[in-house]
Amino acid sequence: MSTYALIPAAGTGTRIAAGGPKQYLPLAGRPMLWHAVRAVCVPPVETVFVVHAPEDAVFATHDWSAFGEQLEPLYCGGETRRDSVFNGIIAAKDVVETDDWLLVHDAARPCLPRRDLDKLVRETRDDEVGGILALPVAETVKRAMNDRIESTEDRQHLWLAQTPQMFRAGLLAQALKRAKGTPTDEAAAVEQMGLKPRLVAGSRENLKVTWPEDLAIAESILKGRS
Ligand code: CTP
Ligand code: MG
Repeated sequence: MSTYALIPAAGTGTRIAAGGPKQYLPLAGRPMLWHAVRAVCVPPVETVFVVHAPEDAVFATHDWSAFGEQLEPLYCGGETRRDSVFNGIIAAKDVVETDDWLLVHDAARPCLPRRDLDKLVRETRDDEVGGILALPVAETVKRAMNDRIESTEDRQHLWLAQTPQMFRAGLLAQALKRAKGTPTDEAAAVEQMGLKPRLVAGSRENLKVTWPEDLAIAESILKGRS
């Protein structure tokens, strides 16, 4: 059994509104995607598949030589993140077998610490279903109606889902194929099958770069390491 990573990178970054796809925005001298690849291009991961939009012309203009043959670009991104991940698994099926582990990681999480990845793999590799990095909610959570508070949620059982999300490739492909609606992460599709993925506590360093102000935070984390 082998372990692979797959990075969906076919989004457009509408919320960050930077005038181009956010995965190529510069952070500490490299495109954001470069840092996301570096974070998962470590043992036991054998190959990192990156799913681009079919018309992506930016990837080829950057230097990816640090990863050699371990990086495999696929130009089969779809309308939604779910479509991009599903298409990527199908495109990688000559290499990735049904029982292999697949770590799906956002291009928008360039600061994933090595210790979080190691912990996810350690705590999930013997799991029947699979698992994800996540954070217990720290703030008090409000349910809103327009811009007024409707009620306060009990945060004790609430977690924020992160990536990587680690599932057997065959199970994940099946879950994504059958999924109703548009699951915004892999676990949501697996949950629809009646399965309960494991929650592995990660860290706040693994932030998702979504809004313009996230860029400076991500850059300071990356610069602080080098
Ligand atoms: N993604 C993808 N294919 C899509 C949409 C998103 O591969 N059709 C990827 C993004 O490139 C990103 C990850 O899914 O690596 C998480 O998505 P998100 O942070 O929402 O990125 P965008 O969709 O690009 O941003 P936004 O939602 O603000 O437009
Ligand atoms: Mg999106």
